[in-house]
Amino acid sequence: MAGTFDISLDSLAGRSVALQNVTSSDSPTASHPDGATFFLETFGCQMNDHDSEKVAGVLLSRGYRQVESPDAASLVLYNTCSIREKAAQKVFSRLGEYRTKQAAGQVIGVLGCVAQQEGEEIFERAPWVSLVCGSASYRKLPELLARIETGNQRVTGLDTDTDETFETPVTRRDNPWRAYLTIIEGCDKACAYCVVPFTRGPERSRASDAVLKEVRELAQLGYSEVQLLGQTVNSYSDPSARRMRFSELLLAVADVPGIRRVRFTTSHPRDFGADIVAAIESQPKLCNHVHLPVQSGSTKVLREMARTYTRAEYLEKVAMLREAKRPIAITTDIIVGFPGETEADFAETLSLLDEVRYDSLFSFKYSPRPNTPSLKMPDAISEEEKSRRLAVLQEKQREIQTARNAELVGETFEILVSGKSRRENQWFGYSTSHRVLNFTSQVNALLGTYVQVHVTGAGPNNLVGEQVI
Ligand code: SAH
Ligand code: SF4
Ligand code: F3S
Repeated sequence: MAGTFDISLDSLAGRSVALQNVTSSDSPTASHPDGATFFLETFGCQMNDHDSEKVAGVLLSRGYRQVESPDAASLVLYNTCSIREKAAQKVFSRLGEYRTKQAAGQVIGVLGCVAQQEGEEIFERAPWVSLVCGSASYRKLPELLARIETGNQRVTGLDTDTDETFETPVTRRDNPWRAYLTIIEGCDKACAYCVVPFTRGPERSRASDAVLKEVRELAQLGYSEVQLLGQTVNSYSDPSARRMRFSELLLAVADVPGIRRVRFTTSHPRDFGADIVAAIESQPKLCNHVHLPVQSGSTKVLREMARTYTRAEYLEKVAMLREAKRPIAITTDIIVGFPGETEADFAETLSLLDEVRYDSLFSFKYSPRPNTPSLKMPDAISEEEKSRRLAVLQEKQREIQTARNAELVGETFEILVSGKSRRENQWFGYSTSHRVLNFTSQVNALLGTYVQVHVTGAGPNNLVGEQVI
């Protein structure tokens, strides 16, 4: 995968969540009688990460304690991703590892996109599973858990016909400085290759008042960065009487005292308008970064993908961003080897990279997915050819990033310090444009603070520098 921006909706590595940072508007009320414990592993995008933070909150408020090993848990939950075949396969191999657990009295549950997609089939393939629940039904989780606690063997939540969003009184967030916040769930676009409209249900936006209330609470708890989430975050449509536009909501979130940075992902090019650029220009707290997935540089392929814009229309949006008064980083997602993608189509994707000069990108080989329109499209591209195109694309992007990052040597960036390296006095963090900066500082206790860093060197994937005191 090219690039360093870890904002893609694609990290496939399983992660178990850390045991910290309970954000609560109410105190958790323990209702589970006998010291039950849960282990929760998450695959997939930031929306899944954040759903897991809420699921953990629901469990904590029922009196469960979170543990870091599946062996030690009475309830083992996998929050799954189905975006590409490999991601979905990984879930079944993980479930296979736990087939003996049920006999030992442990309850195994599958959540997320594979749960929604495979539904009750999961019970056939993995009869040791007791709970199957997709994200559009999470509002029912307390009820489903109560049924499991009273000994039900097989419990499902698979409806997608809801206009409700998943609200929780308690959220157990992973990161103490940057808070995820879903403002729109589901997806109404129908990209030909994509499972998300089937796995996450229809688009449902959260009322702007509820969003702003949570942001105020987060600021009071010490979070300085919020990242607004949605599969098509800029298709936000305020269901409340205020009818706030997405760009107005961005500005209102940035106005909350204590908030220093606001990010949002992922933007769909079709709904990306000049008002969003104007908001970023006028409010420095709105980060200098837009993730604007293009998928292909060929208008013909874009039409086959049902992306609803042409290459020229996409480039108009890029031009709007490039003309802004502040430099705004642009990152993207690209699929190579979509059915029928010719060498000439692929060459158009490569020329788009030259034209836009993305700050970073995530690139994927097309993966045929169940129920999607592109599954039946003719002229499949061989695995070998997909791999070749991916390598060519990534090499070109590497050159672009190397050149772009080299131009930044000598500049100074404000960094939110996010981690410490094993080497002494070495830290890393993110600029507002979401570049990774590794830097040295003699100061202790920098985590979660904002510092100025002078860039002294650059590679394709990161910058290095020194703290300016
Ligand atoms: N809602 C976002 C992202 C969805 S998933 C958007 O519309 O941009 C993240 C990325 O995974 C997509 O942008 C796409 O590049 C990739 N992706 C989705 N389905 C895929 C498939 N079937 N094969 C390969 N890549 C896929
Ligand atoms: Fe999938 Fe397209 Fe929706 Fe993104 S906009 S989640 S790619 S259907
Ligand atoms: Fe996210 Fe994967 Fe579902 S990318 S929306 S968890 S299919």
